[in-house]
Amino acid sequence: MKKGRGNALKALFVGIAAAFSVAVPGAFAQSPAPAGIIPTPAFVEKGNGWFVFDENTVFTVENDEQRALAENFATLFSGVADFVPKVQIGGNGGRGNGVVALKTDASLPDEAYEQTIAPGKIVIRASSLRGFFYGLQNLRQLLPPALESGERSRELWRVPAATIKDRPRFGYRGYMLDVSRCFMPKKDLLRLIDCLALLKINVLHLHLTDDNGWRLEIKKYPRLTDVGAWRVSRGDAVFYDRRNQLPGETATEGGFYTQEEMKEIIRFAAERMIEIIPEIDVPAHSNAVLAAYPEFACPTVRKEITVVPGMGDGNSDIIFCAGNEKTYDFLKDVIAEVAALFPSSYLNLGGDEARKTYWKTCPLCQDRIKKEKLKNAEALQGYFMGRLNAYVRAAGKTMMGWDELTNSRLPEDSVILGWQGYGNAALKAAAQGHRFVMTPARIMYLTRYQGPQWFEPRAYFGNNTLKDVFDYEPVQRNWKPEAESLLLGLQTCMWTEFCRKPEDVFYLSFPRTAALAEIAWAEKGKKNWRSFLGSLDRFNLRLEAKGIEYARSMFNIQHKVVPAGEGKLRVELSCIRPDTEIRFTTDNTPPSPASPLYREPFFADGNVVVQAAVFSGKEQKGATLVLPIRWNAATAKKLVRGGGNGREILLNGVRGSLKQTDFEWAGFEPGTFTLTVDLQRKMPVGLCALGCITNYGMGIHKPRSVLIEISSDNKKFVPVGKLEFKDAEIFKEGNYTEDLGLNARGVPARYVRFTVRSPGVNPENHTKPGQESRVYLDEIIVEEAVRK
Ligand code: ACM
Ligand code: ZN
Repeated sequence: MKKGRGNALKALFVGIAAAFSVAVPGAFAQSPAPAGIIPTPAFVEKGNGWFVFDENTVFTVENDEQRALAENFATLFSGVADFVPKVQIGGNGGRGNGVVALKTDASLPDEAYEQTIAPGKIVIRASSLRGFFYGLQNLRQLLPPALESGERSRELWRVPAATIKDRPRFGYRGYMLDVSRCFMPKKDLLRLIDCLALLKINVLHLHLTDDNGWRLEIKKYPRLTDVGAWRVSRGDAVFYDRRNQLPGETATEGGFYTQEEMKEIIRFAAERMIEIIPEIDVPAHSNAVLAAYPEFACPTVRKEITVVPGMGDGNSDIIFCAGNEKTYDFLKDVIAEVAALFPSSYLNLGGDEARKTYWKTCPLCQDRIKKEKLKNAEALQGYFMGRLNAYVRAAGKTMMGWDELTNSRLPEDSVILGWQGYGNAALKAAAQGHRFVMTPARIMYLTRYQGPQWFEPRAYFGNNTLKDVFDYEPVQRNWKPEAESLLLGLQTCMWTEFCRKPEDVFYLSFPRTAALAEIAWAEKGKKNWRSFLGSLDRFNLRLEAKGIEYARSMFNIQHKVVPAGEGKLRVELSCIRPDTEIRFTTDNTPPSPASPLYREPFFADGNVVVQAAVFSGKEQKGATLVLPIRWNAATAKKLVRGGGNGREILLNGVRGSLKQTDFEWAGFEPGTFTLTVDLQRKMPVGLCALGCITNYGMGIHKPRSVLIEISSDNKKFVPVGKLEFKDAEIFKEGNYTEDLGLNARGVPARYVRFTVRSPGVNPENHTKPGQESRVYLDEIIVEEAVRK
């Protein structure tokens, strides 16, 4: 963390005082093998001694471009060290001691480099500025992390001697940032870009527009930012709970980049070898632009169009009218301005998730379908994207878009981002000769949870852990060989539905983006999880010095408790870091380094609170897991009906959190389902209940009805009673859990049967109107009645 100003001054004086007295500790001693470089270089050979940066250090470069690069690097020392290395074109740096020489070697491929670090001399060879830049990033990663702090430090600025050679596996190493859902101010965006550069990521895909805000000044259409950049604030409500703007409300939340600001961002990124690819998402995800210019929506839209703060309460169906010629004129102008502003050879036009609700009834869209002899509304999207592609190509650019573009005629020469079906939807494009980038949602979407959900701020759906990203290998054995040759690279996508401030974006982005860098750069099949983690720990010190909030989720424990037969539960604890120890207690004391070491799953046969944490030596690294296991008569028993599909968690004595995706909840398809539990002996039955969750924004609600019956033989059942709920109770807003049950009042039975009917379709005033509600349960609770 950055220190306060007072501390900075104090550190400055300490630094100056120390500069005279500090001995150079082992400046020429045996250096350790360079560690901490991410992505891990293909070839690293340890040398002897160190190269020390000091007031005599000179960068010798061959031309002005290299000079700018070296000067940028040298500036890192400014205000941090007592010196700033000099940069000169030509020469050997005077005394020839302390020289960092950049030398062109045309035999190396673009982006590749070879680097020797020895006492007194560093040589970086490359054929392009990119190669030199990456060699310099290695030096940056090998120098003390304090280099990144911006504060005076008394460090010895040295790097260990080594020979390093590397080249990236993929030319496209991307990170997407959604600045629509959460606007990121320029200063924070620059900080983020600098982190990406350290990791040798070379594409920043900026998702500039969506239903939730338009973020780029377009001179010809000022309402895009006067209106489209602002939405109503819904305070701390999570994304899917936020209601649309009401008449009379003022939109106060948002922001945008002026073209001048964007030029500065582009320049800053270019100096760091990062290309910014702008995305203007059409024809859907367009409520912000249509709020500003509703005339480009289908004339059949009767609703008020506003910039939406959340999911849009059904308004996300409002998309550009593809039958209105004025839509094309407008988008042609926008594309022209965007193409002129961004030097990238790519322009992304989205194309994802366009529901054709309005196109199906819009007279203009229907006319267009007839006139162009299109098969249906889906083909109309192909026509729409094809026309826009012509504008993109006329501007000298290549169009990119999401894999929905494969659902109709693919725009000529377009490049496809594969996100659905583990990204494999993009293979349909590859089969037609299109280049593509893999960004499978199930692995690369940073909006999903990055660790055990009990410890995470609210996010979406399931988990994409650091290890999931690291383990990803895009090229599958069943791919046709041509597909691999069309794969440009990989990308993580930082969708920001659950971010309210830049720190939230950093938290979700790091360290998973370091794993993206590793797999996009490292040679196929040459990755090592343990050594990556070692390097990552060092890399994270750099993020810390930069004041970047990164996640420690990799140190948290995932639990799994399941019935194991014989009335026992099997308790499994896991952590994705194999280089740490899990220590646990069952005696209600917090875990410590001296607590028993978790080696393998263990068994529980009664109430217990398991507490566990991850340790590295004596240091606790992650959060403490507190896992209460509470027994009832159904715990560790068997579902004789309705089991399978992981539903044994209904009998595991562990209650779910407020996140229905935390692996303690079982989800059920809409309709009626039955669960019968065998208590394995006849007993007087008391309370029979189901633990149930409401997550209004996700359309998860309690059942319409629950019929509870008991039986001695699993054949003849007698009713305990039926719970029935009305709409007002079912569709109550909020996120809460409740147990729905009835008391059997001591009637003896061995089997308890629950017949559950889901609530049906969400009402019109719901945030997800017209969608089938779903029921999630965490526990079956059956109590043995106490005989009086
Ligand atoms: C997407 O996730 N809609 C591209
Ligand atoms: Zn229309």
